[in-house]
Amino acid sequence: MLKAEKIDYSYGDHEILHGVDLLVEDGEFVSIMGESGSGKSTLLSILAGNLRPASGRVLLGGRDLSAMSERELARLRCTEIGFVYQEFHLIPTLRAAENILLPNYLARGDAKEGKKKMAELAERMSISHVLSSFPEEMSGGECQRVAIARALLYSPSILLMDEPTGNLDSVATEKVMTLLSELNRELSLTMIQVTHSELTAQYGTRIVHFGDGRILSDEVVR
Ligand SMILES: Nc1ncnc2c1ncn2[C@@H]1O[C@H](COP(=O)(O)OP(=O)(O)OP(=O)(O)O)[C@@H](O)[C@H]1O
Ligand SMILES: [Mg+2]
Repeated sequence: MLKAEKIDYSYGDHEILHGVDLLVEDGEFVSIMGESGSGKSTLLSILAGNLRPASGRVLLGGRDLSAMSERELARLRCTEIGFVYQEFHLIPTLRAAENILLPNYLARGDAKEGKKKMAELAERMSISHVLSSFPEEMSGGECQRVAIARALLYSPSILLMDEPTGNLDSVATEKVMTLLSELNRELSLTMIQVTHSELTAQYGTRIVHFGDGRILSDEVVR
């Protein structure tokens, strides 16, 4: 369970988030929609422990992120919170397999176990054929599936995604979204995506409309 309580955030004197409350139960797939500049990415960064709120707190499985040190947060982001970006954020000098294994290097995990999990995920994501390719040799959809596999290497309790299909064409978008909704249903993987598209929002089980740093509506759709 992820719980955000009364989150406020400002950049300088520009107030971005105003007392945001959000409770995401295990197994939910939440789509957050809202105008550009309304604070969606800022909220996602706070939920991921990348930014600390000015006030309020974030609880992940009962643990308070605001009480954690930078070191503890870094470990949490490596092993418990998966994050996927619009621009993939793969390391260009590493092959797909090495990109997926990155959290394992960072958390100094068991190499053999990491490789086994990586191969399983690659199979699940239909990217086994690109494991020895560099990011520039892959399609956008393949890059994003590699980035999702990387985010899932440690079986995180939640997957946070900021416009995961924003850079993909409609065919690649459908493939990625279908995969995500299968992961949500089959593994009960809890997910939050930010999206500008009504179509991709519909893959979620719940749609939250966000505006001017506040939640405007919140509806369970499935
Ligand atoms: N590092 C920063 N420093 C100062 N202002 C920032 C910073 N990052 C974002 N902002 C401002 O905060 C506001 C919210 O930004 P945010 O990126 O959260 O919006 P968003 O809802 O994700 O928008 P988009 O849909 O365009 O991605 C915007 O007005 C933006 O200009
Ligand atoms: Mg954004």
